[in-house]
Amino acid sequence: MLIRHAADLSENDVTDQGLYRRRREFMTGGIAMGSAGLLGLPELARAAPLTTVKSAYTVDEPLTPKDAVSGYNNFYEFGTDKDEPAKNAGSLKPRPWTVVVDGLCAKPQRFDIDALIKRFPIEERIYRHRCVEAWSMVIPWNGFALAALLNAVQPTAKAKFVSFTTLLDPKQMPGQNENYVPWPYREGLRLDEAMNPLTLLAVGLYGETLPNQNGAPIRLVVPWKYGFKGAKSIVKISLVENQPQTSWNMINAREYGFYSNVNPAVDHPRWSQASERRIGDFFRHKTLPFNGYADQVVKLYTGMDLKRFY
Ligand code: MTE
Repeated sequence: MLIRHAADLSENDVTDQGLYRRRREFMTGGIAMGSAGLLGLPELARAAPLTTVKSAYTVDEPLTPKDAVSGYNNFYEFGTDKDEPAKNAGSLKPRPWTVVVDGLCAKPQRFDIDALIKRFPIEERIYRHRCVEAWSMVIPWNGFALAALLNAVQPTAKAKFVSFTTLLDPKQMPGQNENYVPWPYREGLRLDEAMNPLTLLAVGLYGETLPNQNGAPIRLVVPWKYGFKGAKSIVKISLVENQPQTSWNMINAREYGFYSNVNPAVDHPRWSQASERRIGDFFRHKTLPFNGYADQVVKLYTGMDLKRFY
């Protein structure tokens, strides 16, 4: 299924690291990106190495190869086929980029993406990634706990939910000219879910900044929930009092709940959730409750009916 074509090779695969680094120095040295084209250099911001620290978050399963992680994607801003984000996401400009954190907090702030990366130690976290469409991967993300960022802005006692808003710019994201989704793509979590240590803001994978198609420069990763909760290319994180509107729930609330915790016992109305196709693997895997993270999150849902499609 995932046959690797020459066109799928990233520039990094075919460029030696030294040349690659010199290009980055050149491109970050104050020379307009536009001039890169004149010199035969790529217009796109390319993956840059990240300084990362190991973490205790890992799984005892083989990693999904990088070309599959960044070649088989859901990112409707760049098309609805799995190979379209990798082909089309070159128009996204992940630098400069600002993330606003506002709402019910004592210290609302705007953060430059590179300042964020410097401020919080970037951990490697290997998580299972389970899409609601019943495919899955194992991905070595690089990022920091969302809780660290939220603590920096000091949520007030009134804050009960967190909403995530992603980039709205049909020039950079041509799929936004189609009405697949009420744009911008938005997601949300309950505050206690957002503060759970597993909840990650990812800025990279496989030790390098995120490929555009994976949600550059910053995206949410909530490993016990279906993948659509993981909003890509976030520009705003707001602390709010009421449950926020979320894109797939707005499209079809019966099929895509606000909670959407991975649950093999509750089928999607149109397909089974009991097992999953692990990308790159011949055999299907049994889907685990909360995607295998039940011990760390089941306490968040005490008293809630887990038989429903959350
Ligand atoms: N974020 C935005 N902005 N747009 C999207 O279409 N798709 C979601 C989620 N985040 C999506 C998004 C879905 S359905 C999934 S499964 C994951 O991103 C896919 O992430 P991946 O392509 O990095 O595997």
